[in-house]
Amino acid sequence: MSGDGVGRLAGKVAVVVGAGQTPGETIGNGRATAVLFAREGARVVAADRVLASAEETRELIEASGGEAVALEVDVRDEASIERLVADVVARWGRIDVLHNNVGIGAGDNNALDLDEKAWHRIMDVNLMGTWLTCKHVIPVMREHGGGAIVNVSSIAAVCAAPLLTYKVSKAGVNALTHQLAMDHAGAGVRVNAVMPGLIDTPMAIEGVSAAFGLDRGELRASRDKMVPLGRHQGTAWDVAHAALFLASDEARFITGVVLPVDGGQSARIG
Ligand SMILES: NC(=O)c1ccc[n+]([C@@H]2O[C@H](COP(=O)([O-])OP(=O)(O)OC[C@H]3O[C@@H](n4cnc5c(N)ncnc54)[C@H](O)[C@@H]3O)[C@@H](O)[C@H]2O)c1
Repeated sequence: MSGDGVGRLAGKVAVVVGAGQTPGETIGNGRATAVLFAREGARVVAADRVLASAEETRELIEASGGEAVALEVDVRDEASIERLVADVVARWGRIDVLHNNVGIGAGDNNALDLDEKAWHRIMDVNLMGTWLTCKHVIPVMREHGGGAIVNVSSIAAVCAAPLLTYKVSKAGVNALTHQLAMDHAGAGVRVNAVMPGLIDTPMAIEGVSAAFGLDRGELRASRDKMVPLGRHQGTAWDVAHAALFLASDEARFITGVVLPVDGGQSARIG
């Protein structure tokens, strides 16, 4: 076990899909989750379309004494997911935790200005990709008596959002989570989601400021103001800790839950 963890995932094999990150000055949700899972004793598969970025995550984990391997996968390509799952099973024999972090929004727009190609690209990555990893990992979990899946959604799924495809894809992730939870509860496979609100990650700050020509400081300040709890965005560690709980045996009686990690933002609709 590495770092300060107490072994909440000791003995488990965890596959984090989207474990690399958009370059930037803060840590991303996927990378933080992979690092935290390893710190809590999991052997971590850091999988990403960008292998070099997954390798950086592996290096971070190994530098703090954890065990990880970096593997390439493109969640739009079913054959590449099949290869990933076969590789993990050949290497470590089982998969106890699947964390689906991959999500994109670039090129999205409102319903009237949205381009059809952008719609398909975002739906394929965010929704189809999440389904496909579950499709190939769940049989492995069922064979070994169960497992835990954590899907990364967004409060965009339930709040008004300016970007249509991202919202619809994340609403789909919530529905997928509910359905898979019901379908596989009898086999001990738990399926939950975290629903992050405004999180200070490179995808949200560097990515959005570059796409829309915004000043990073002003973007941060405008996002901070929208968060009820402390008027401050969350960090990737907030998302990672929620995912850790849902992935761990502490959540053994919890399935089909979509957990907001949003400083209270979605409580407005409650
Ligand atoms: N930051 C926020 O404010 C916020 C809010 C709500 C939800 N989220 C969600 O958090 C998740 C992303 O968080 P992050 O900070 O780790 O983002 P990130 O962009 O830093 O990391 C995502 C990783 O996914 C990889 N990826 C992209 N397409 C892929 C594909 N087709 N196959 C495999 N890997 C692919 C990227 O290479 C990248 O390394 C997304 O699901 C996003 O929707 C973020």
